[in-house]
Amino acid sequence: MSVLSGKKILLGVTGGIAAYKTTYLVRLLIKAGATVKVVMTPAARDFVTPLTLSTLSKHPVLTHFTNEEDENDTWNNHVELGLWADLIIIAPATANTISKMVNGTIDNLLLATYCSAKCSVYFAPAMDLDMYKHPSTTANFDKLASYGNLMIPAGDGELASGLSGKGRMAEPEEIIQFIEQHIESQLPLRGKTCLITAGPTYEAIDPVRFIGNHSSGKMGAAIAMELATQGARVHLIMGPSHVVCQHELIDRVNIKSAQQMYDAVHEIINVVDVAIFSAAVADYRPSNPADQKIKKKSDTLTIKLVKNPDILASVGAMEKKPFLVGFALETDNELEHAFAKVEKKQTDLLILNSMRDKGAGFGVDTNKITIIDKDKNTSTIETKPKTEVAKDIINEIIKRIL
Ligand code: C5P
Repeated sequence: MSVLSGKKILLGVTGGIAAYKTTYLVRLLIKAGATVKVVMTPAARDFVTPLTLSTLSKHPVLTHFTNEEDENDTWNNHVELGLWADLIIIAPATANTISKMVNGTIDNLLLATYCSAKCSVYFAPAMDLDMYKHPSTTANFDKLASYGNLMIPAGDGELASGLSGKGRMAEPEEIIQFIEQHIESQLPLRGKTCLITAGPTYEAIDPVRFIGNHSSGKMGAAIAMELATQGARVHLIMGPSHVVCQHELIDRVNIKSAQQMYDAVHEIINVVDVAIFSAAVADYRPSNPADQKIKKKSDTLTIKLVKNPDILASVGAMEKKPFLVGFALETDNELEHAFAKVEKKQTDLLILNSMRDKGAGFGVDTNKITIIDKDKNTSTIETKPKTEVAKDIINEIIKRIL
């Protein structure tokens, strides 16, 4: 999945012949999962039609502060547009627009939006070779870099003038690749390895029956996705669950029993920076699972259970251990039990769920949690989608490990 997925991107198109390539750039951004709004300078409209770009981006293309044809229309608010964007791409960026960006000259909607935005700004210059190497242009490139703007360098080759040299706008694929690599290099968990256990465990009674629980694995999967989104390499050790959790940075190992989960955890725990234990592990397992299906003979059946290893506590007891996060699902005296678990399992953070809270715990798509640190400071996060709760948990971890 591209790091551009879910991003709100404002594409600024200025008046150069390379503007025709932005049709394909918009297609690629949409394909990567981004939402795209296009703002064109008046000159850009001579090179590519707003109709083409609005059809491809599925949003009206804006050029002026007001839409003159529509007397009922309100103004196009550059401040709102600037704050809406997660990132701005100015492509092609002409020498003229670059010079205005440097000096804060605001004579169109795009420049007003650029000056109002707080997000990253990428610009892909496109101009003839002599303009590209003119001292005023190179000085302007340096100035924009000093403002924190990111230049996607032009390529070498045949130019619209018929001359050949440096000044061709980077190809749309190169623009996407540049931005993706830059975003990836900035992700807070890049270079970190994380482990997460999720879902239930099934403890065999015989070849067809088991002792299990209602955990869906949704919370763990949401955390795994968020870890990967923040750049971490993720080992997801998952009990039986139908939840789909796919990302190129997630390596999923499916297990059934607590013992298998324990073995999978200890196989890699030494190379892990952060370990999160969200699985609902069975505390006990049948001591002697039958080889054959147990027949219905007597009125009662007694199954002897033995204790499973406590995986979280086993990692908590390690001398050199990763940053450790456990979960606690309680039905009564929640805080008291959770505080005892922080001590017993030696967690850096414990995420408490209460079965008494509506919209929290097993099966549902939302959760309400209290985060408890090792000094027993608590903070409660009100009910929200598990994907959002996952973000809060990961942000809390990032704050503490970076
Ligand atoms: O003791 P309790 O089961 O309530 O603790 C819950 C926490 O411990 C969760 O983080 C769970 O994943 C972990 N756990 C474990 N191995 C067990 C039991 C629980 O890792 N056998």
